[in-house]
Amino acid sequence: MGDAIESVQREVRVFRPPASFSARARVKSLDDYCKLFRDAADNPESFWGDVAKEFHWFTPWSKVREWNPPNARWFIGGKTNISHNCLDRHVAGGRRNKAAIITELESGEVQTLTYDQLLREVCRLAHVLKSRGINAGDRVGIYMPNCAEAAIAMLACARIGAPHTVIFGGFSAQAIADRLNDCKAKAVITADGLRRRGRTVDLKNNVDQALTNVPSVEAVIVHRNTGDNTPMKAGRDLWWHEAVEGKPRFIETEAFDAEHPLFLLYTSGTTGKPKGILHTTGGYMVWAAYTARSVFDLREDDVYFCTADVGWITGHSYVVYGILANGATSLIYEGAPTWPDAGRLWSIVERHGVNIFYTAPTAIRTFMRLGDEWVKRHDRSSLRLLGSVGEPINPEAWMWYHRVVGDERCPIVDTWWQTETGGIMISPLPGGTPTKPGSATLPLPGVAADVVDEHNRPVPPGKGGRLVIREPWPGMLRGIYGDPERFKNTYFPSGGIYVTGDAAHRDADGYIWVLGRMDDVVNVSGHRLGTAEIESALVSHPSVAEAAVVARPDALTGQALVAFVTPRGNATAGEELRRELGKHVTREIGKLAVPADIRFTNALPKTRSGKIMRRLLRDIACGNASVGDTTTLEDYSVLQKLRESEE
Ligand code: PRX
Repeated sequence: MGDAIESVQREVRVFRPPASFSARARVKSLDDYCKLFRDAADNPESFWGDVAKEFHWFTPWSKVREWNPPNARWFIGGKTNISHNCLDRHVAGGRRNKAAIITELESGEVQTLTYDQLLREVCRLAHVLKSRGINAGDRVGIYMPNCAEAAIAMLACARIGAPHTVIFGGFSAQAIADRLNDCKAKAVITADGLRRRGRTVDLKNNVDQALTNVPSVEAVIVHRNTGDNTPMKAGRDLWWHEAVEGKPRFIETEAFDAEHPLFLLYTSGTTGKPKGILHTTGGYMVWAAYTARSVFDLREDDVYFCTADVGWITGHSYVVYGILANGATSLIYEGAPTWPDAGRLWSIVERHGVNIFYTAPTAIRTFMRLGDEWVKRHDRSSLRLLGSVGEPINPEAWMWYHRVVGDERCPIVDTWWQTETGGIMISPLPGGTPTKPGSATLPLPGVAADVVDEHNRPVPPGKGGRLVIREPWPGMLRGIYGDPERFKNTYFPSGGIYVTGDAAHRDADGYIWVLGRMDDVVNVSGHRLGTAEIESALVSHPSVAEAAVVARPDALTGQALVAFVTPRGNATAGEELRRELGKHVTREIGKLAVPADIRFTNALPKTRSGKIMRRLLRDIACGNASVGDTTTLEDYSVLQKLRESEE
């Protein structure tokens, strides 16, 4: 049976876009979507050329794309500047006094920057960078709280053509040093600290520690955020607020080639050292902007709130670049989502009149566990669209999001994409695409997604396979920094087909259901199953808050399933619940998916972006000491607790 993957999901609910939503949407029907999809597929050059024309190009491109697998180039010969397109274009075009970024700090303080003010701050910081010898092509590390200054830092780098690499503020000194060394960064922009759960976390100290091992860094610019004391190293460190004093409020934009590197963003692979994913200027700009506008159906007066940190690709594309390129208002929240209580995000929605809310399934499941009351006590009538990203969203969580957060009124866009894809690839267009809980639905225009077997042949509907993209798209990664071999082997092992590394299946309507990473596919008695579906069945039980399923070797069945289950607050872990869950999975999927072993735990090991680290759970299930990279693990103590729960 080769490596065919079986899909066992039986979700049949369908939700059509509300007529009132469709009436005002950019894409109003499935027919509208199909037409766009066909246009982009039949004539990609004119389709993307037309989208790109909306932006300012200092020199027009001579050719839209060139594809020599694995190397793509878009808007060849074109010169542009993404900071100009995110700022100057709007200041000149009637949005000068519109809010560009609203930041709410954990302390409750709110700061608003209009497009004009944001442009000024970006220009002043760009002057500082220049004065410290940072020029086009020099790499700059950004290690910041989630606040407007992080966006200013990114846009200032982009303005002068210095590729940035944002390092998530939760990473350790070692993780910072690894990333800065890999790209030989010349400067770092950081802050004294950030606020988390009422306390401050010292960021500058981590940078200082990291820099003892990073010879390339010559300058450190420090934003005063918490006001905590930090030692400043003479000749290297300068306070942001002092450095910008007296700097001119404008700096001419330089025109950069469409393929000029815009940023590197490190993703940790399952093994080995993190990969510096490279995105360039023109194609990324067009992709981030087009997808933001289409998927979020952005309107001029929207307040858009994405809970992702700027340290992740979601923060890059859908807090900063894609949102500002559309002249929209992006709301940023600095702190912990459950601080000072579990109602914080809903209170933000209420107080700022948020219209579009974009978050991750891990957050949705957390709020589900904390109880509806926290959501319902806040007025959410301003919301009109909800989004999800980062992991497969299990239908139970989807339904809760729809029912409780969205009051059954707001369409949900479940957006599938990756750091590598630069922007959303598979997602409903909310005015046109009927949604099914748990499916990211259909590929966006320009995305030639397919589900294939090991010979790259499409698999029939309902069968699982590998999710691949058959054609290049403007926002695709252009490489792994310094490692063209790894780039080719990882993403384009057989010519021009991009391998996502995810498993998926497509239903009879062509809807795509992502089953998780290929590495997480398990093989039980010859049945290859995606873990997401089994986890989803477990989580649909009222006593389960979260679940992760992995396999351990088994002499009889090849592999046996081990489930790590976090019960809901009021449920009792024990033999009875174990038996009950076995019966539940039998009912939902069938006997073959019943875990051989169910372990109860208070928490699952997660990356800082909220993804469950199944690799570590596999090690625990197999009784191995954990190996590989754990620098992205959110809470090390969770691992210890899981081991202790083994007997
Ligand atoms: O496995 C898929 C999962 O997250 C991976 C990409 O992770 P990262 O590069 O960190 O980017 C996260 C933000 C885009 C994918 O390979 N993933 C992301 N979104 C979804 C998803 N899985 C299922 N459904 C999604 N909507």
